[in-house]
Amino acid sequence: MGQAMSKILSEAKDNPQAFWAQAAKDVVWIEPPKTILEDSNPPFYHWFTGGKINGCYNAVDRHVAEGKGEQAAIIYDSPVTDTKRIITYNELLDEVSRCAGMLAHHGVGYGDRVIIYKPMTPSAVISMLACARIGAIHSVVFGGFAAAELAKRIDDAAPKLILTASCGIEPSRIVAYKPLLDEAIEMSAHKPQAVILEQREQLKAEMIEGRDFDWHDEMASANAVDCVPVNSEDPAYILYTSGTTGMPKGVVRPTGAHIVALKWSMKHIYDCEAGDVYWAASDVGWVVGHSYITYAPLFEGCTTVIYEGKPVGTPDAGAFWRVISEYKVKAMFTAPTAIRAVKKEDPQGTLIADYDMSHFKYQFLAGERCDPDTLRWCEEKLGVPTIDHWWQTETGWSIAANCMGIDPVPVKAGSPALPIPTCDVQILDEGGKELPSGEIGAIVVKLPLPPGSLSGLWQNDARFIEAYMADFPGYYKTGDAGYIDEDGYVYVMSRTDDIINVAGHRLSTGGMEEVLAEHADVAECAVLGVNDELKGQVPMGFVVLKSGVSRAGDDIISELVASVRSRIGPVAAFKLAVIVARLPKTRSGKILRGTIQKIANGEEYAMPATIDDPVILDEIQDALSHIGYPKS
Ligand code: COA
Ligand code: AMP
Repeated sequence: MGQAMSKILSEAKDNPQAFWAQAAKDVVWIEPPKTILEDSNPPFYHWFTGGKINGCYNAVDRHVAEGKGEQAAIIYDSPVTDTKRIITYNELLDEVSRCAGMLAHHGVGYGDRVIIYKPMTPSAVISMLACARIGAIHSVVFGGFAAAELAKRIDDAAPKLILTASCGIEPSRIVAYKPLLDEAIEMSAHKPQAVILEQREQLKAEMIEGRDFDWHDEMASANAVDCVPVNSEDPAYILYTSGTTGMPKGVVRPTGAHIVALKWSMKHIYDCEAGDVYWAASDVGWVVGHSYITYAPLFEGCTTVIYEGKPVGTPDAGAFWRVISEYKVKAMFTAPTAIRAVKKEDPQGTLIADYDMSHFKYQFLAGERCDPDTLRWCEEKLGVPTIDHWWQTETGWSIAANCMGIDPVPVKAGSPALPIPTCDVQILDEGGKELPSGEIGAIVVKLPLPPGSLSGLWQNDARFIEAYMADFPGYYKTGDAGYIDEDGYVYVMSRTDDIINVAGHRLSTGGMEEVLAEHADVAECAVLGVNDELKGQVPMGFVVLKSGVSRAGDDIISELVASVRSRIGPVAAFKLAVIVARLPKTRSGKILRGTIQKIANGEEYAMPATIDDPVILDEIQDALSHIGYPKS
């Protein structure tokens, strides 16, 4: 490790509060915080309490005030609509201030929730910033979720208003948002006061008189409003993420700490400064989109790219390289699955040569385990450092990363490198005992978490404690398993719970099981993730039918696939299911999901000592062979 990194790590370790107090000087406060770390009520920790700040001011107004109004803030590149647009900081300020005025006009005030259900267009980012401007709490919902998922979020967040668009555009189809939204509002107990909808020319939505308003009309008549002082510890946003049940967890992000942490990360992790073009090819509906499409690049005064397209098929596997070259992108961030999709279509990376990539300095990857092949392919074909980093919706930014802006450590394939400063990552066994280097166990972070991490779950302290804090008192349980090597590098191997990662999207197998179990013919079921060359993992269902059911198994499977799609959404990518006579269980009745998973993946497994009937494993193997699993 270089001197700069070891100095920063040791200073941070010795005095985390001094470290973050220093970082906090890099953002604009209306009133500086009175306390750097409020730790009187563990496991609830709050960074930078007693201060007043505004996220929109730090992302937009500040740069205009500093004379950078004519610099590009947003580049919108949409191959699916054949649109390109550059928005300067001056223009962004104008649109965000009017959007904030529009929200205020509809009665949205400090602390009110606003759901944003929009595709990857500038108005999604403008909507987020407008909420921040008036101290409203946004909750962005990813477009690939079904109405029932949206309804759960509406009921939990109880938004005053919903901002939406008429449609999203997938390469294969136009996704009509409005019928999904209408259905969700119909299903939910809470009813928003109003919906403001942006009509897109690809599909016009039907409006409901009195409840629905047109975005363009409302924006045109809105008065600009100024930033309000926001208490540093108040929520900037709620972002729902998959838990072990079908009810998602509402991760709450505290305002001040999120601004300080993300600003710090841009320089120190991504090596990007004001004026650089930074691109996170994700979606605003995910945490990557919150932190690295909207907030962090704008806090730093960079130009951020909003890309409404895919890595392949819009129009080809050179799309990423075109965007990088056209806008002189310095650092790009995507999920390994996106690179695998590109690599599959253009294994030799020949399309890269069509573009001038001279401004491109770093390829960052996260969202799922980065397989060494993908890492090597990027390094070799792109000729730039390829940096894996590990984080979660809960943390909002890296837990472990190779800090390019401090001094890079050697890349080790399969590892996102070192814990970030002040983040005390440890590996514990089931009893909470620290494991020596090289041994796999639960990955935990000693409390307090660094600034920018969740301050709790929305109105659910009990679930916050139970999900993250109860198993290892004094530590945050990441839900990931892995090890730390002798050089301190972290290796993240798998989840310890029922969460799977499909194409970089986090999904709950428990949620899918709830949907399958509701089918009239299903007696019991298990859903688990099986390896997939492109998506990393895909869900597979194992279903036991009620006795006496004589309908064709294929028909039942088609119905199950359709129900997961309509209840959770296409993003779940639930397409594989097998009907089995019985599920293997322990004598105490617990389904042996790990063993089934190993069989489906063709991996070695030890016969579980507690299995009630080993013959069931042969039956599972047999059922899998009918759908071509395990794959050779
Ligand atoms: N709105 C509506 N539907 C959506 C959607 C959205 N915003 N995003 C995805 N979907 C749909 C897709 O159309 C697809 O539907 P289908 O079953 O009818 O084909 C389904 O959800 C699954 O989508 P996806 O996971 O994107 O798979 P894909 O096969 O269409 O594309 C990749 C595969 C690898 C190209 C794509 O997953 C990808 O780009 N992944 C990168 C992920 C990423 O950026 N993650 C964020 C963390 S960094
Ligand atoms: P999400 O909350 O959607 O960002 O998903 C977080 C989960 O994705 C983590 O808990 C990990 O299981 C997985 N993950 C994210 N980044 C990485 C990475 N770099 N390496 C391994 N797993 C990762």
